[in-house]
Amino acid sequence: MLRMSDKKNSGNPRLILYTGKGGTGKSVIACATGLKTSSIGYKTLIVSSDPAHTLGDALENRITDSPTKVSENLWAIQIDPIKEMEKNYAVIQEWLTSLLSAKGIEETLAYEIASLPGMTHLFALLKIEELAREKQFDVIILDTVPSGEALKYLYFPKLFGSISRKLISMVGSIAGIARVIEPLIGVPAPKKEVFKSEVELIKRLEMLADILKNIDITSLRVIANPDAFSIENTRRTLMLSSLYGINVDLAIINKIIPEKVNDSYFSNWIELQKKCLSEAEASFYPLPIKKLMLFDSELKGIEMLKRGGDELFINEDPTKIYFKGSPFKIISKENELTLIVKVPFTSKEKINEVERIGDELLVRVNTEVGDVVKVIPLPTVALRMKLSRAKLLNDELQISFVDEYERK
Ligand SMILES: Nc1ncnc2c1ncn2[C@@H]1O[C@H](COP(=O)(O)OP(=O)(O)O)[C@@H](O)[C@H]1O
Ligand SMILES: [Mg+2]
Repeated sequence: MLRMSDKKNSGNPRLILYTGKGGTGKSVIACATGLKTSSIGYKTLIVSSDPAHTLGDALENRITDSPTKVSENLWAIQIDPIKEMEKNYAVIQEWLTSLLSAKGIEETLAYEIASLPGMTHLFALLKIEELAREKQFDVIILDTVPSGEALKYLYFPKLFGSISRKLISMVGSIAGIARVIEPLIGVPAPKKEVFKSEVELIKRLEMLADILKNIDITSLRVIANPDAFSIENTRRTLMLSSLYGINVDLAIINKIIPEKVNDSYFSNWIELQKKCLSEAEASFYPLPIKKLMLFDSELKGIEMLKRGGDELFINEDPTKIYFKGSPFKIISKENELTLIVKVPFTSKEKINEVERIGDELLVRVNTEVGDVVKVIPLPTVALRMKLSRAKLLNDELQISFVDEYERK
């Protein structure tokens, strides 16, 4: 039987975050993982902030907004992001609103603050910080990390921290005289408790960022289904997560039709999925990939989810860090941006063609088994730059862009 390894990270819980498009299987895989880790002996908490209450449905239990025991060593919690937001943010929000509606605020700053629609995600993550700090659990599994572009919520701690800092220094310098000149400049002065709660919030956001970026504590795991759309979305998630400095240690392809399905109706699907799987292997390299088959009915209830966990992890400990490193690296200096992408090729192979289509780069490589196309999603900054060079060095593809506007 699998045993719990020595407690890691000097009492810090292990944090496993599942991301992927809606319906790919985040909730059920989070539950399956939790059932596996709890059976090994880890005190495990599964966390969801999905308003659809999918955790309760999957575990066939009523899950509330405080940890609810589901089975031995296993608890689940359904975070209410609105409640969390009110708890943490009400004082600041009230003041910010009045601040924004007043004149005299630097436009870009006001814009940045006004465009924070993902606040609820942020506060769900803040709850994670609280739970991690309390150290009541060995493993915390989150099933609701939004995918793709929305992944920037994980970056919010840093972004929000820096905005807040700007605000604090700006407001701090005027706070003393603000009350006197308030009628003149039309900016409402913050009350003392605004500062107190702002400083508190920044501290917690910074702690959250530390936890998320700690490769020994946090792993992001991407879940995809075997279809082209889902694989593409995952590629982008991988690019963004390395941009944001969050370690992805595993990819899971879920809902694969088993080959034993011997029905002509599905034979095309099976072929198509095979193609997608080999595409995923080239795209996600060198990230390890696990596969989970499509069960013959909805993956639901503790017994079935346990089976899912066993199929997925067999006799492994799911808390292990499957991979450290980054399939993408982004180096930017002066007016040049270089993407370094790990690829399953060698220097012997030749780049045939590099083509840019929209926000993606298609690199055609001539290999022993014919041409292989590697699709690379581009970060937003590269979109206004010009492709200057592409070369293959061992298992790395280096692509450089120059910013023509700055060169002048
Ligand atoms: N491998 C699988 N076999 C059968 N049904 C699955 C499988 N994975 C997920 N499902 C079903 O697909 C639906 C979506 O899964 P869910 O975990 O809720 O997705 P997400 O949380 O990513 O939105 C659920 O009804 C779930 O039971
Ligand atoms: Mg879900």
